Amino acid sequence: MSRNILVTGGAGFIGSNFIHYWMQKYPEDKIVNYDKLTYAGNLDSLKDLSDKPNYVFVQGDIVDYDLVEKTVKEHSINLIVHFAAETHVDRSIEGPAVFVETNVIGTQVLLDVARNNGNIRFHNISTDEVFGSLELDSEEKFTENTPYDPRSPYSASKAGSDHLARAYHETYGLPVTISNCSNNFGPFEHVEKLIPLVITRALSDEKIPVYGDGMNVRDWIHVNDHNYGVDLIIEKGEIGQTYLLGANGERHNIDLIKELLSILGKSEDLIVHVGDRKGHDRRYAIDFSKLKNDLGYEPQKPASEWLQLTADWYKENEWWWRPNKAEADKIAEKYLTNPLD
Ligand SMILES: NC(=O)c1ccc[n+]([C@@H]2O[C@H](COP(=O)([O-])OP(=O)(O)OC[C@H]3O[C@@H](n4cnc5c(N)ncnc54)[C@H](O)[C@@H]3O)[C@@H](O)[C@H]2O)c1
Repeated sequence: MSRNILVTGGAGFIGSNFIHYWMQKYPEDKIVNYDKLTYAGNLDSLKDLSDKPNYVFVQGDIVDYDLVEKTVKEHSINLIVHFAAETHVDRSIEGPAVFVETNVIGTQVLLDVARNNGNIRFHNISTDEVFGSLELDSEEKFTENTPYDPRSPYSASKAGSDHLARAYHETYGLPVTISNCSNNFGPFEHVEKLIPLVITRALSDEKIPVYGDGMNVRDWIHVNDHNYGVDLIIEKGEIGQTYLLGANGERHNIDLIKELLSILGKSEDLIVHVGDRKGHDRRYAIDFSKLKNDLGYEPQKPASEWLQLTADWYKENEWWWRPNKAEADKIAEKYLTNPLD
């Protein structure tokens, strides 16, 4: 049976990749991309889909109950995949209010629309950052049983979103699933985020800021592996369950930057250590055994291969990132005024 899917935040990094992935794999489904188009939304990422009859774009805010409900009714939506969020940790430190508005209130509005319109199947996209920080030298990884311990306004607001999604399942029987994923990379990621920032600045031989000693560890996953995992959960996941999603891509930030510089044939002299982020989580790592054992998930390629493909994509698609580079550079330049050496 074909589905009518409301994708929130589909003009963002992961949402736009999800729409490409889904339309290729399930061409009989209809996708309604509902996005406010904040600074992070970019319709250029979906340019090739604009004339497809089964793709619709609606510009709107997820906190706007009436517009969400009108869209859901108009397109007979029977699945909501909720990506829309404020996502940049540094921005959440500068101004937390919009994070609570979009990530907490926005999720609650969507859940209410789902509940009031025939209990629509709802998948909540979340992050491993809700679990807090692991010790650098431990072997421990996050699992579905790890208690929530968010430490930034961003992760606290995402934790609020997850709690609401779970509560709507328990309280109202809404058919909800949740995935908590590690750090994504791949095409169409805003150039203010670490991997595109490193690639695009290195391509121009510009200095690359790295927080503190650069020893913080992130567990990197390619966006296609993330969306493949979400696909499995939507198709075969158990209602009411949470699944952790990762790809065994743990790396110290400094090693990741060096790997990218080596892929691009650039000198490590471009790296500048700068003052650390407030409350900077030291290590994230995901144990994705549940998704693997219950639903047969495996990452499609090792992270190193995906990193090479990603560097190639940014080299070949300057038309996409160039218009946003000056804005991202302002943030990078601000950090570079605070070097550690
Ligand atoms: N990027 C990662 O590494 C990562 C990892 C795990 C989970 N996630 C989660 O995945 C989701 C997508 O992340 P991303 O990196 O693609 O984000 P992004 O910042 O690239 O995109 C977010 C999108 O949401 C839209 N949006 C923001 N506020 C909105 C609102 N009030 N109403 C409607 N649309 C709004 C923006 O316009 C943008 O298109 C988020 O929920 C994020 O928490 C991200």
